[in-house]
Amino acid sequence: MCVDMARIQGDPYRMIEATVEHSNVVSNQVAACAAHGRFFDAVEHFSTVGEIGGRLGVHPTKTKALVAMLKCLADRGDLEEREVAGKKVYRRKTAAPQVREGTGDLGRAKLDRVMDGWGGNAADFNWIARAGNLLGHDLSFLKTDAADKVPFGRRLLSTSGMDWKYLLTEPVYDLGRLKAVRDLANYGSRFLDLACGPGFGTQRLAEVVVGGCEVVGVDMSNEMLEEARRVIYSGAKATFILRDLNTGLPPLQENSFDGILFNGAFHFIQDKRARLLEMYRVLRPGGGLVLAHNFGRSGLNDESTWEFYFALLKAEIYPIEFEDLRIMLSDTGFVEYDQYHRGSFSYIHVRKPVGEFQPARQPLPMTKANERPE
Ligand SMILES: C[S@@+](CC[C@H](N)C(=O)[O-])C[C@H]1O[C@@H](n2cnc3c(N)ncnc32)[C@H](O)[C@@H]1O
Repeated sequence: MCVDMARIQGDPYRMIEATVEHSNVVSNQVAACAAHGRFFDAVEHFSTVGEIGGRLGVHPTKTKALVAMLKCLADRGDLEEREVAGKKVYRRKTAAPQVREGTGDLGRAKLDRVMDGWGGNAADFNWIARAGNLLGHDLSFLKTDAADKVPFGRRLLSTSGMDWKYLLTEPVYDLGRLKAVRDLANYGSRFLDLACGPGFGTQRLAEVVVGGCEVVGVDMSNEMLEEARRVIYSGAKATFILRDLNTGLPPLQENSFDGILFNGAFHFIQDKRARLLEMYRVLRPGGGLVLAHNFGRSGLNDESTWEFYFALLKAEIYPIEFEDLRIMLSDTGFVEYDQYHRGSFSYIHVRKPVGEFQPARQPLPMTKANERPE
């Protein structure tokens, strides 16, 4: 972990630029894979997703990934997207999109400069270059149900290999986690680390909170928790609970935490309103919550790249617009303290006010996760 916070504080534009550059590295891999796999032959004329999937032999379970890939290539400018009779149709703009052979890594040089400007270590991104084309060269990841046939998935998403460590410790990601932890450190000594993964947030809390702290980590992945339990947290007493947070928070005492960290996973939560109410309950009055690295609907040009990335995961995501998240937080009773953004990933720091909260209106029922009822 190598981000020097002192150098990037107060420089939010660089953070956005770096994130978008970061996504360019990935979207270029998508285009490189499409070109090598003769994807563009299947979109010579305007065609529906079903027609394109049929021509390419896409496995039915990978339709979501195909849709996301088409959107990503359209946003890059490689495909033209239209709507005909309520259906999206796509046609190639060029037979060969602009990709660099070998690494498929057009965004890299600029990203390196941005990272150097941060005081981050651009060499930490070498895993992308080492990996070559993360999606392979033959579109086989679209043609099979097996996640382990996806080089991208195997390298980045597997919890049995160690490659996910590169993803979770890269500077762009660690930056947000460290800022979130710094924001929380002042609240006290007892923290909840939701979707804690292999314990990097807990580790950061142990480093940053003066005088020691107690952290309860929760995650749905046994492999992640096994990893988290192996770590020595000097200065922190850490306990971990296995739990799918889509089924609710584990039983925890009311008003019992000074701060809650939810880094890199709130987009996996379907009933966000219900989870926010539970977080509000377990947080002490005056305590802080940071929802960090939360992927949402932004309309920015990195959105479709990351949507494609998430489409390769087994877990569903439920992204909503940042404004809707703010409304949900305030309906729950939280008071906003700070927000910052890195492309389509947002960070929001809120507090549970001291004194009883009177809701302005009744909590609204959730319909679709990305739709706010009238
Ligand atoms: C991108 S990692 C972030 C890990 C950690 N917060 C960090 O900062 O490194 C996402 C984590 O969310 C966990 N996760 C995803 N969906 C979850 C759910 N429904 N309940 C609990 N954990 C979940 C995954 O197992 C994974 O460990």
